[in-house]
Amino acid sequence: MSLPLHYFTTAPLECLNRVLEHTPHDRTFTLMPRGCRDALCRVMPGVSADLEIDDAESRKDFGTLQQILSAMLDKGLTRKSLVICIGGGVTTDIGGLAAALYMRGVRYINIPTTLLAMVDASSGGKTAIDFGGVKNCVGAFHQPLTTIISPCFLESLPAAQILSGWAEILKHGVLQADTQLFNTDPLQLSSDEWLPLIRESVNFKQSVVDRDPQELGLRRILNLGHTAGHAFEMLALKRGADVTHGQAVAQGLATALILSVMKTDYPSMQMQSVAAAIKNTFPPIPFDCKDYPQLLSLMHRDKKNQGDGLISFTLLDAEGNPAPGTPVSDTEATEALDITRDLLSL
Ligand SMILES: NC(=O)c1ccc[n+]([C@@H]2O[C@H](COP(=O)([O-])OP(=O)(O)OC[C@H]3O[C@@H](n4cnc5c(N)ncnc54)[C@H](O)[C@@H]3O)[C@@H](O)[C@H]2O)c1
Ligand SMILES: [Zn+2]
Repeated sequence: MSLPLHYFTTAPLECLNRVLEHTPHDRTFTLMPRGCRDALCRVMPGVSADLEIDDAESRKDFGTLQQILSAMLDKGLTRKSLVICIGGGVTTDIGGLAAALYMRGVRYINIPTTLLAMVDASSGGKTAIDFGGVKNCVGAFHQPLTTIISPCFLESLPAAQILSGWAEILKHGVLQADTQLFNTDPLQLSSDEWLPLIRESVNFKQSVVDRDPQELGLRRILNLGHTAGHAFEMLALKRGADVTHGQAVAQGLATALILSVMKTDYPSMQMQSVAAAIKNTFPPIPFDCKDYPQLLSLMHRDKKNQGDGLISFTLLDAEGNPAPGTPVSDTEATEALDITRDLLSL
């Protein structure tokens, strides 16, 4: 029996048990982050980890991967076994990679427990570790057997992490011209209110991934907000500031829409209302003109660039009409950074 790609449920334990009942396997191997194990076990009582890992981004590395593979071997996993990854994006990325590598690939189930992992990291089949200072440098495409998504996990998630995932939901909304989301306060939603929002966002990402599973073209639209966003994230991290990925992506989304107004027919009014919502929702990542050379240099290092001296952005030609690979000059990017500071009062 083939399983749906995603389950959306307020009863993840029952859902997992049903999946296990209907999926022939010899053994299971459950991976969980050590730090939030108690919170996760409150949602899925009775579930215990075969291995608990340190899920700091700095430990998304070969050392942890080796630890997971060793534990899988020690438990006697075979190609008929099932790996269950319960946790945020660090856990699903590294657990998925271990599943891709072990005996040339075993099946795995993702149970994402952060909003970001629910709407982004846990589906699409990209798995990875960081290597040599490069994020997600070593990885594989390996699709999970299924992904069980439950908003119940959000109850213990800190507000900053909710906002981090919210930025990716907003990104999916802008790509589909659904700006209703900008009137929603993500910190006030109940599990029942979360379910349809998460389902819509995941289904959108999946529809893009289905059309371009290996990221050869279309899937690059999901990079909206990330070219400037990664630069803001790196700048803040170098300063030792406590930023989340989504906080940087939200600010980068404003920069991308500003460039869209500058270079295409994207409506200025729409950009201004999105920027206002971003300003009201996300903590700012301040920068000034002394930071421009560093921000530009970080944007030039983006792996989506074509090597023509220009920065390749995903922009929007019009509402809901993404234009991946739009070349942007340093002068245009500088002007967009000026307007970003102005609109977000940075
Ligand atoms: N594979 C992909 O397509 C893809 C897409 C986006 C991001 N990612 C990756 O995802 C990672 C980021 O994921 P993330 O934002 O989920 O970070 P994360 O996995 O580091 O989790 C964030 C923090 O929340 C804690 N946590 C997890 N669930 C919790 C819960 N329910 N209650 C309380 N605390 C909880 C974690 O222990 C951690 O401290 C990055 O490594 C990124 O590269 C991958
Ligand atoms: Zn992202």
